[in-house]
Amino acid sequence: MEKLALHGGPRTKTTPFGKGRRFGEEERKQVLEVLDSDILFYVFGSKVKQMESIMKSMYGMKYASGCSSGTAGVHIALGSLALEPGREVITSAVTDMGTLTGVLYQMLVPRFADIDPATYNMDPESVEKLINRRTGAIIVVHHAGLPADIEAFVAMGKRHGIPVIEDCAQAHLTRWKGKLLGTFGDISTFSYNHFKHITTGSGGAVLTSRDDIEERVRLFIDKCYFRDGRKRNPFFLAPNYQMTELQGAVAIGQLGKVERIVKRRGALGARLIAGLKSIPGIIPQAVPEGAEHSFFLFIVRVDPAIIPTPMAEFSKALDAEGIPSEPNKVTGGMPVYMYDVFQNLSAFPKSRLPFVSRDLRSRVSYPRGLCPKAEDAFAHTFNVNVNEFYTEGDIDEMVKGIAKVAEHFRG
Ligand SMILES: Cc1ncc(COP(=O)(O)O)c(C=O)c1O
Repeated sequence: MEKLALHGGPRTKTTPFGKGRRFGEEERKQVLEVLDSDILFYVFGSKVKQMESIMKSMYGMKYASGCSSGTAGVHIALGSLALEPGREVITSAVTDMGTLTGVLYQMLVPRFADIDPATYNMDPESVEKLINRRTGAIIVVHHAGLPADIEAFVAMGKRHGIPVIEDCAQAHLTRWKGKLLGTFGDISTFSYNHFKHITTGSGGAVLTSRDDIEERVRLFIDKCYFRDGRKRNPFFLAPNYQMTELQGAVAIGQLGKVERIVKRRGALGARLIAGLKSIPGIIPQAVPEGAEHSFFLFIVRVDPAIIPTPMAEFSKALDAEGIPSEPNKVTGGMPVYMYDVFQNLSAFPKSRLPFVSRDLRSRVSYPRGLCPKAEDAFAHTFNVNVNEFYTEGDIDEMVKGIAKVAEHFRG
């Protein structure tokens, strides 16, 4: 058995990972056009409108709206559905806080569904158990770039009369049975933050084909101001989640690249999965038949019955091999309900709103053990990067390094 680099043996990865630039001539040209126009405000400019029209035709949806972040996008989606305070919103225990922020601001009550331990996506059975007459929406997160069981959730939503929001922050231009994620539910949201497939620094988009909520989407982005000459008289509470022309300009350039980025990550991710499959004790994320995977994250589970090593130790050994990894990471570092804001019911100062409230008739708490499969996933997984700039050689060395560390800890 080869000695670990951690213990003075040879490093597996001796050459640097493939690198590249995310922005080029197209973004430069678009941004300069904005500056030359002397207008950064989306209402008077053309770039946000253009990026919206690209999103509309790319996804084949009736309406697209640029906004300031993916967090804003989910908040806008909830605001557009006009749910009364105290209604419950079901979402995955494995997601980013950005999925939940708008839920809490709208005084809606989060309920967390457990995951399928093979895909890390929300399990329809777990969602079904949480549905009751107070349920106002289901937010389906396509986690890590892998489609959730979206048809099951849409059917469930129809059966119970509950709208479905697709949170596609991590799943740009990704298909389920040939149809793009973000086109199944009532409304869908995207993030262009720094870490996503494409980025505008911060930014996002909301898609819908529902005529009855589109106006509210627009109003929720913009303080409930009409921008079409109608008299200003806000009739509900809405934040300012505008996208600026600078973000719109960069988005135009980035949207021109998204297909290539997703394809490349898909190919590299599939190669990595194929390489890891035969290593005893190493279980790459399952990709169901019919699902594309755009590999926002690459999640690896380590079977504790075969490799009983704590993930931090495994990860340290991998890092020494020249393969950076993050231990205990499905996303974040724990199920989202384990964050203090949920554990302490502390969304707002000196108040337990919206979790516990006589007015809202709410009383929830989120004890450890609430979603055991999600909790178990964090204990036994690590993440590695799959980047569109990597080469096939990079991936093959990652396989070699993971195999070496796994062999060492199997003993
Ligand atoms: C699933 C999911 N939803 C929402 C968000 C929030 O997006 P943003 O960071 O653009 O606010 C993220 C970002 O990490 C995410 O991964």
